Amino acid sequence: MIKPFSFTGAKKIVFGRGSFSTLPAYIRELGGRKPLVVMDGNLYACGCGEDVAKVLGDAGIGFVLFDKVRPEPELELAEEGTKVALAEKCDSVVGIGGGSALDCAKAVSVLAANKGKAADYLGLDKVPGPGLPKVMVPTTAGTGSEVTFTAVFVRKDLQKKEGMNSPYLYPEVALLDPMLTLSLPPEPTATTGLDALCHAVESYTSVNASPVSVMVSLQAIRLIAENLRVCVHNGLDVEAREAMLLGSLYAGLGLANAGVTAVHSLSYPLGGRFGIPHGLANTLMLLPVMEFNLPAALGKFSLIAEAMGESVAGLSVRDAAYLALEAVESLVEDCGIELGLEARGITEEDIPGLADAALTVVRPLENNPRRVTWEDAVELYKRAF
Ligand SMILES: [Fe+2]
Repeated sequence: MIKPFSFTGAKKIVFGRGSFSTLPAYIRELGGRKPLVVMDGNLYACGCGEDVAKVLGDAGIGFVLFDKVRPEPELELAEEGTKVALAEKCDSVVGIGGGSALDCAKAVSVLAANKGKAADYLGLDKVPGPGLPKVMVPTTAGTGSEVTFTAVFVRKDLQKKEGMNSPYLYPEVALLDPMLTLSLPPEPTATTGLDALCHAVESYTSVNASPVSVMVSLQAIRLIAENLRVCVHNGLDVEAREAMLLGSLYAGLGLANAGVTAVHSLSYPLGGRFGIPHGLANTLMLLPVMEFNLPAALGKFSLIAEAMGESVAGLSVRDAAYLALEAVESLVEDCGIELGLEARGITEEDIPGLADAALTVVRPLENNPRRVTWEDAVELYKRAF
């Protein structure tokens, strides 16, 4: 029997080389005349800002810029952006950048329209009504935020990361132009790409996976395994960048519908307490969690191995499943990411506190194919040490 399911995402997905030039048309289609453009300041300063100003300026759209986004944004940033949107009477929001900019833009859209406090909207279904119409334009192939209903922030006061999760956060338009990802340097290309791999593997193995979500998750794994190395080491290869952006989109759709699992629960405290960037934190936890989950989902792990190009012909399902671990390990290594929590300044004494914090990230743990106890969480951090 097929478990009943639904499948959602951004209302419209636009994908293609050069599609960024169609941004004004989509803003207009949504009734926007004066969008707030939310961007990372560094991204704006290094050339992308001129492109944005030209594309919108040529179309006669006067926009208001909010470029204070930084990696791993704090909740206050969403409040700050909202103040600008309200003061300038913006009627729409455009997020351009990596996950931080997109998450911030999504939060500003619902805060500006509903006028609540950002902290009140953390959790599931706490946003009372629709936000300002929003278009999301990713410049990294990783977060999938352009098609998800989540915005994640660091809460400095509580030393943790928390998310707003509401259908009102789904963007009206996700506009994906591979040309915008060409200039991303190798390291963030690797860590954001591996974040997408986590979304793909986790959503594929989630107990909430549906017949549609497994299709996009598995195809995401295939695309990422085939193209991430090239993107890291030859960033100007447009075909590889294009395939990675598609893989990241599929992984985001998998994540939006099937959810993530224990990797994200265990990685959030690494970001919240130690400031480890999201993609890297997930990469550090991916292999230990995959190894832990493997006995609970042998068939799926064997298909992950196959999708990642391992030769599984003639192997038992169990032997094939273990090849998934090798495939991920070699991809991480080829991307130049050194594993190990110790190298990131974490000590063994930190582990019990990390395990406490990870168990509070409940929803992804509920999706995990194998139950994770406190003792298991400690063991997983030790394996990642
Ligand atoms: Fe993620």
